[in-house]
Amino acid sequence: MSIKIAGTGSCVPSLKVGNNDLLRLVDTSDEWITSRTGIHERRILKDESLLDIAEKAANAALKNAGVGADELDMILCTTIQGDYITPSLACLLQSRINAKCPAFDLNAACSGFIYALDVAASYFEAKKAKKILVVCAEQLSKFVDWEDRRTCVLFGDGAGAVVLTEGDGLLAIRLRTAGQADFLNIPAPLPKNPFSDFEAIPRKSFLSMNGQEIYKFAVSTVTEDAVFASEKAGIPFNGIDYFLLHQANGRIIEAVQTRVKQPKSKFPMNLCRMGNTSSASIPLLLDELNAEHVLKKGDILLMSAFGAGLTSGVCILRW
Ligand SMILES: CC(C)(COP(=O)(O)OP(=O)(O)OC[C@H]1O[C@@H](n2cnc3c(N)ncnc32)[C@H](O)[C@@H]1OP(=O)(O)O)[C@@H](O)C(=O)NCCC(=O)NCCS
Repeated sequence: MSIKIAGTGSCVPSLKVGNNDLLRLVDTSDEWITSRTGIHERRILKDESLLDIAEKAANAALKNAGVGADELDMILCTTIQGDYITPSLACLLQSRINAKCPAFDLNAACSGFIYALDVAASYFEAKKAKKILVVCAEQLSKFVDWEDRRTCVLFGDGAGAVVLTEGDGLLAIRLRTAGQADFLNIPAPLPKNPFSDFEAIPRKSFLSMNGQEIYKFAVSTVTEDAVFASEKAGIPFNGIDYFLLHQANGRIIEAVQTRVKQPKSKFPMNLCRMGNTSSASIPLLLDELNAEHVLKKGDILLMSAFGAGLTSGVCILRW
């Protein structure tokens, strides 16, 4: 099917926030965070904007692919929210990198990268594009309540990017949505409006989550999606070289690993250093593996993500 990844790039903020740095904010411990999640530190935007790191990730991916910004047919950013509500992050990025093509944002929460691949693949199949830049850039630090120990320890900021060109690398892809806001949400802020009666709606845009329900959703969904994609592509789990799973919690990844009965070495992780960077997590990991020459031409990658929505997405790609 239609696409291949021609290049990858990423950028994370320079500020590292370790578990011990959170002790002055909330009643927690390095031991609790490490044992329940596998996270040791995360990166947080301080004196850079989301657009700044999106730009660096984009330029790195273009360089890695050997593609000029002027050759792009589309820029697709995935983000829960850019620096502005409007214009989109993609529009501002288009200007920063001197591209001329259409650009828009897509919000599928942490599943955004897989959703973007599916949209991009459809553009290639419809012969409407030959080169697409996907940039997944997230700043969850602006949505977490830094007084809520149940959530603030989990997330980090970062950007990952890929350049897609025509190819036959996509062997299976599926998106799913089970619409509900009960288990994971960030309410939109509600500015004062003299005509509105909606005083009851919370004004603070803090992320709230039912961790145990999301945990159960994640383990069952990622496992089901892996089975589906493997059957669809006609590639048994033994034939998958790497499972690149959304970096939310090491225990979720280990639970899926046990269920699909594959060795731990096939499940690379960077969440110990990055935390959960939402839609940026898989492209960030992919770029690390690419930069370290871990991935070999022809490797079979299963990528799977889940997130607020509830959304999920899986694909199998030949590298
Ligand atoms: C969030 C998560 C790590 C919590 O782990 P858990 O084992 O389910 O923990 P619980 O929520 O049951 O809380 C257990 C206890 O730890 C406490 N606790 C929660 N966060 C804590 C923290 N950072 N430090 C110390 N204690 C904490 C709770 O208050 C609770 O205490 P209590 O028993 O006295 O009430 C886990 O549920 C998870 O990872 N869920 C999935 C989240 C996810 O992936 N989200 C991203 C979606 S894209």
